Amino acid sequence: MTTWILVLRGLSLDVPKGSIVALLGANGAGKSTTLKAISGLLKTEDGEVTRGEILFDGERIDGIDPEKIVRRGIFQVMEGRRIIADMTSLENLRLGAFTRSDNGVAVDIDMVFRLLPAAERTHGPGRLSLRR
Ligand SMILES: Nc1ncnc2c1ncn2[C@@H]1O[C@H](COP(=O)(O)OP(=O)(O)OP(=O)(O)O)[C@@H](O)[C@H]1O
Ligand SMILES: [Mg+2]
Repeated sequence: MTTWILVLRGLSLDVPKGSIVALLGANGAGKSTTLKAISGLLKTEDGEVTRGEILFDGERIDGIDPEKIVRRGIFQVMEGRRIIADMTSLENLRLGAFTRSDNGVAVDIDMVFRLLPAAERTHGPGRLSLRR
């Protein structure tokens, strides 16, 4: 028998273009679930949006596959230093840019290494923080 849990109800959230919006709430309030719903990741936990709609640039994105949502420009930045530790800093940066089709990735990666000159490009585990 399947047990359904209602995690969120009546959430209305608007993120105007160019603005920063903070979502605050107690532990277990549903912040992560909200972000998973926006990114299309609820299905990885057998969850779903059962009512309402999620719009991005005026188009509905609920029900769209996560990889397509990422390509539209919605992505989540990991908290803390959660990059892929077995990969180098350069490999992590290239992975983060995998949806980009423009020619500016190399320039942007150079900028990151200028900002963080102590980061190793090709050796050792990915580290993008400055060594002290
Ligand atoms: N996969 C799941 N199965 C069952 N219940 C879940 C699942 N994911 C989340 N929940 C429940 O949904 C509620 C909201 O969880 P959620 O992780 O979104 O909260 P949160 O606001 O991000 O909390 P925190 O501040 O601890 O990160 C909690 O009661 C949690 O137990
Ligand atoms: Mg959370």
